[in-house]
Amino acid sequence: MRTNTKLLHGYTVVDSYTGASSVPKYQTSTFKQNELYGETQKYSYTRFGNPTVAALEEGFCTIEDSKYALAYSSGMAAISNVLMLLNAGDHVILPLEVYGGTCQFASEILPKYQIETSFVDMADLAKVEAAIKPNTRLLYLETPSNPLLKVCDIAKIVDLTRNKQILTVADNTFMTALEQQPLALGVDLVLESVTKFINGHSDVVAGLVATNQPELASQLRLLQKNFGAILGIEEAWLVLRGMKTMGLRMEKSVQNAQVLAEFLQNNPKIKHVYYPGLKNHPLADVQRQQAKSGGAVLSFEVYDKATLLKLTQKINLPILAVSLGGVESILSHPATMSHACLTPEERRKQGVTDELLRLSCGIEDTADLLADFKQALL
Ligand SMILES: Cc1ncc(COP(=O)(O)O)c(C=O)c1O
Repeated sequence: MRTNTKLLHGYTVVDSYTGASSVPKYQTSTFKQNELYGETQKYSYTRFGNPTVAALEEGFCTIEDSKYALAYSSGMAAISNVLMLLNAGDHVILPLEVYGGTCQFASEILPKYQIETSFVDMADLAKVEAAIKPNTRLLYLETPSNPLLKVCDIAKIVDLTRNKQILTVADNTFMTALEQQPLALGVDLVLESVTKFINGHSDVVAGLVATNQPELASQLRLLQKNFGAILGIEEAWLVLRGMKTMGLRMEKSVQNAQVLAEFLQNNPKIKHVYYPGLKNHPLADVQRQQAKSGGAVLSFEVYDKATLLKLTQKINLPILAVSLGGVESILSHPATMSHACLTPEERRKQGVTDELLRLSCGIEDTADLLADFKQALL
């Protein structure tokens, strides 16, 4: 089966009990037990498992091409559970530009459990290699990075960890498994904020972790059960619905991103465009090798604040908001939104200037998006 067919038929999409064409919301916290000492039933309590959530997890396995997948109450719930696989005395390497929530969890929560962290420029393999210590137990990747779309070479980084008992983890939120498959490139665990492209409708907060390793899946299930980081039934059902059109949505969003990146690159009001689908992106060749496209998110910098303000006031179609991956285009201002918790100096060091905007392309008609940007930049 190919992608779009798999998204519609590759997992439990029909209710086995009634034949309903959509798996119902099994809105229950508990399940009647038939007898005290009888066979163990599949479901006993929703925090341990629920048929609607189980159907979604099966769907995640289909998307990720993985043996195991867990659904979480948010991308951050997935991330924090994965980082809690570490033990006191362990060391973890994360990207310098890792997602803000992950950065905060690693720098403020992990030290409480005597877990050391290093933040490294993942595009520089020598720096990654130099950061590996005898107690390094986890290496965390995110490519392309947010908001500057820096790329790192997944397979080469995985190679650096061989025979060193280092767990590799990739946050694949920006690309999704439809555009880039870290598990196939040797990563042990892949995670995503399902809030973004998988659900795709800006109406749910959810997360997932996928793996092919049974031991890791059961360790994570234990953590999830104990932290209570489960996805609600209503949300699971909404994601099941959103996921069916994911292939078509990604295709259109990626196409819009490529066209807009090329348009913006040639516009005199734009200082720089960051998009790994552009030929002049510093690691465009790595992106081409490890991903199907440049993805649906790009960033661009204008020359001054006046242009920035005029553009954000005049633009009609993209909504000015935090987040990405919706059917509608979303324009965000990293300096005051996703990266507001950094000091101006930290932002400057990362290259997140006040004149930078990030655009998550939706599925609007390309010509309409182009016309909107043209008039906003006049
Ligand atoms: C790359 C990345 N990872 C993780 C997250 C966290 O996901 P959530 O908001 O679903 O907890 C986000 C949220 O923006 C993100 O952009």
